[in-house]
Amino acid sequence: MSNIATLEIDGKKYEFPVVVGTENEVAIDIDKLRGETGAITLDPGYKNSGSCKSEITFLDGEKGILRYRGYSIEDLAGKSNFLEVSYLLIFGELPTAAELTKFENTIHKYTLVNEEMKNIIDGFPKTAHPMGVLASLTSALTAFNPKSVDVNNEKEMYEAVCKTMAKFLVIATWTYRKAKGFPLNYYDNTQGYVENFMQLMFGLPTEPYQSNPVVVDALDKLFILHADHEQNCSTSTVRIVGSSHAGLFASISAGVSALWGPLHGGANQAVLEMLEEIQKNGGDADKYLAKAKDKEDPFRLMGFGHRVYKNFDPRAKIIKKAADDVLASLGVDDPILTIAKKLEESALEDEYFKSRSLYPNVDFYSGIIYRAMGIPTEMFTVLFAIGRLPGWIAQWKEMRVNKEPIGRPRQIYVGEPLRDFKPVDKR
Ligand code: SDX
Repeated sequence: MSNIATLEIDGKKYEFPVVVGTENEVAIDIDKLRGETGAITLDPGYKNSGSCKSEITFLDGEKGILRYRGYSIEDLAGKSNFLEVSYLLIFGELPTAAELTKFENTIHKYTLVNEEMKNIIDGFPKTAHPMGVLASLTSALTAFNPKSVDVNNEKEMYEAVCKTMAKFLVIATWTYRKAKGFPLNYYDNTQGYVENFMQLMFGLPTEPYQSNPVVVDALDKLFILHADHEQNCSTSTVRIVGSSHAGLFASISAGVSALWGPLHGGANQAVLEMLEEIQKNGGDADKYLAKAKDKEDPFRLMGFGHRVYKNFDPRAKIIKKAADDVLASLGVDDPILTIAKKLEESALEDEYFKSRSLYPNVDFYSGIIYRAMGIPTEMFTVLFAIGRLPGWIAQWKEMRVNKEPIGRPRQIYVGEPLRDFKPVDKR
């Protein structure tokens, strides 16, 4: 591989350095492109543009590979736990037992959320979508933690990481409690992080709460599978907001808003709503496949397709297996799972989907497991956010520690040329 790329514009040749990554990914460094040629690149949706060099996550869309800090997603989902994987993503190494204990104990220092935050959540109607409430509450945390973190002070950064992991989990569950009219629960420092999610969500002051170990194990695995995914829409949002040196809570809040979209994290809710609609209309999966292929119909097969995975999403494979296991363990026989499998089977045999490399993604089966766990559909994307939080933190930290420049893309103007102002009586 040559370390120089040559570009010819108007008969003049220009040379630019070539960057080769750990896994032999190749990029052309165009840092000096405009200065030397006067031209910029144009790449709507950044399908061909790298925004940064990163040491956090590697994925290969053609081979269906996903690794966090070099460890395969299959190994981590099968052998690790969510808090350990969070530590790995954020600090770069799997923690020793002592480091993991310190991480959890430091998180425990911050699990109380300022009581005045309850006045903020009380301002929302019960009908508010949990993702909108979560984005607002996350940003509101800045008001109660105004000192921005010195990213070059390791201890300060460590404390800010633990504070974010602690408070985000609590306020995420408050969005559900508020919608149900339930009292807002407190984190229990004697329980684990994922156990706490369940008791924060479903614990009632009127009776003791016992979480189901099958559910906790499955949720832990799901959070691992959602923990990071290199420069996806919401993570790129967190990085670009943080590049202006906005605080960590403000940047995470922006990431929550980006994840909410049905083309991104909101797809897990949209998949369940789609499957329920198919079930309501007699379970005719083929009718919906036809809608998805009809260019006149805005309907898309939610949970299918991916910007990067053009073979299969390794997370979807793991989640599909987990869906069978969890529903069997819980004794749940959900016809929706049968409809999902039929839909997948038909799509994978259909020329339209095959020719466009459209396969099930992480969102296709996750909602079926959440539903079996008793998680309400409108909370599915909140669970995606809880899983993605360590990835957002890790990416924000890497961007700031590496002193990346403020994000400011260029454009090509195609509007009106210069024209004279017309007074209103002449228009
Ligand atoms: C996530 O980036 C990440 O890593 C994201 C994520 C993460 O972990 O952060 O993996 C999480 O967001 C997963 C994706 C969840 N979204 C959905 O399931 C929504 C449904 N899928 C799509 O809307 C779509 O596939 C995207 C948005 C995921 C990807 O869109 P692209 O890469 O921009 O592809 P495209 O829109 O250019 O589509 C290419 C072709 C088009 O047809 P033609 O114009 O070539 O004829 O494929 C078609 C599209 O119409 N197509 C679909 C389709 N997805 C793409 N047709 C029907 N159903 C679909 N789901």
